[in-house]
Amino acid sequence: MKVDGKHFNTIWIKSNDESVIQIIDQRWLPHRFVIEDLTTVEEAAIAIKDMHVRGAPLIGVTAAYGMYLAALSASDEPESNFMRKIDQAVDMLRSSRPTAVNLFWALDRQMEGLRDFDGGVEGKIRLLLDLAGEIAAEELESCRLIGEHGVGLIESISKAKSGETVNILTHCNAGWLACVDYGTATSPIYLAHDNGIKVHVWVDETRPRNQGARLTAWELGKHGVPHTIVADNVGGHLMQHDMVDMVITGSDRTVYTGDVANKIGTYLKALAAQDNNVPFYVALPSSTFDWENTDGVAQIPIEQRDESEVKNIIGLNEGEIRSVSLTPETSAAANYAFDVTPSRLVTALITERGICSADESGVLGLFPEKSDQVG
Ligand code: MRU
Repeated sequence: MKVDGKHFNTIWIKSNDESVIQIIDQRWLPHRFVIEDLTTVEEAAIAIKDMHVRGAPLIGVTAAYGMYLAALSASDEPESNFMRKIDQAVDMLRSSRPTAVNLFWALDRQMEGLRDFDGGVEGKIRLLLDLAGEIAAEELESCRLIGEHGVGLIESISKAKSGETVNILTHCNAGWLACVDYGTATSPIYLAHDNGIKVHVWVDETRPRNQGARLTAWELGKHGVPHTIVADNVGGHLMQHDMVDMVITGSDRTVYTGDVANKIGTYLKALAAQDNNVPFYVALPSSTFDWENTDGVAQIPIEQRDESEVKNIIGLNEGEIRSVSLTPETSAAANYAFDVTPSRLVTALITERGICSADESGVLGLFPEKSDQVG
C-alpha cells in the first residue's frame, strides 16, 4: 500500500544488499515511520517477539527470512555445522510467539525445502532466500484474493442499503501492516472503497497494545477510508443501535473445524454480533489454518505477554514517544493476547480460494487436498 505516495510492503530485501532484510518497525506507528534493518536471525526473532513486526502472515514471512539470515551467518561453516546452526535458528524462531500458526507453517516449509536438497551450503542459502521470497509473494497474492472474494459481501450490503454507507467493525490490525500487503480483513474493505462503494470502519482500539487505534486507523487514513476509533467495549452498543452492518476480523490460527483464534476481545465481539444478527466474518489466508487440531478453545496455545503492556500505555507527548503508568504499581495484571471464537459464532470464512462455512466440510470443500492430512 502507499505511504505518502510511495508504495511499501511490510518486509523486503534491501536494494543492492541481499544480506539485509528491511521491515517497518511498527512499534513507532502512527507517530514515526521507522525502517529497521535485520541482519541476523537473533534480530529477526526479537523483531517477532517484541512486535516490531506482528500479525500472523507477517510473522511467518519474517521467520522465513530469519532462517535465511541464519544461513548467511553460517556460510563459512562446514555443512554439518551449518545444518546445526539452521536447527538452532528454527528453535529460536519457533519460541518467539506461540499462537499464530503461520510462524510454524513458514518454518516447516523452509525445512521441507532443505530436506534432501544437496546443493551445498551456498545452494542452501540461495534456496532459503528464494523460498522466503516465494512465501512472501504467496501471502501477498492470498491477501489480494481475499479482497476479490470478500468484496461481494460488502457490495451486497451496500445494494440492500441502496448505496448508503456500509458500516464495518474490525478488531486489532488485520491490515496490510499485519501481512505483506493488502491485509486480510481490510483487503475487501480497501477494494470496496476503491470500487466506489461507501464504507465506514469502526476501529476497535484493541487494548492493551492498541493495534486498532495505532495501526488500523493509520493505514485506513493513509488510504482515505473513512473510519472512527472506538474503545474496545463500544461494539455491542453500536450493534444494538444498527450502527454495524458487518464485522470482519483476521485470525492468528483457525482450526480446520472452524474455531478462530484472534486478538483478545474478538470473542466478545462475536457474541455481541450473534445477539444482534450482525454477520461476523473472518478473513484468513490458508497459511493460518491449523490442520492438526480440532478444538480451538482447548487446543490453541494462547500467548500470555508481559504485564507491563497492561499496566502502561505508550503515546506521544511533547514530540517524544513515552510510556506512562496507568495502574497502581503493586497491582498484578494478566495479559492474555488472544482468545478463541467458537465456529458457531462465525458466519463464514473468507479465504484466497473463496468463502466457506466455518466448519470441516466448508474448509475441506475449499482445500480438498488437505482431506488426507486431517482426522
Ligand atoms: O499480537 P498481534 O498484533 O500479532 O495480533 C494480530 C492479530 O490478532 C491479527 O488480527 C491477526 O494476526 C490477523 S492478521 C492479518
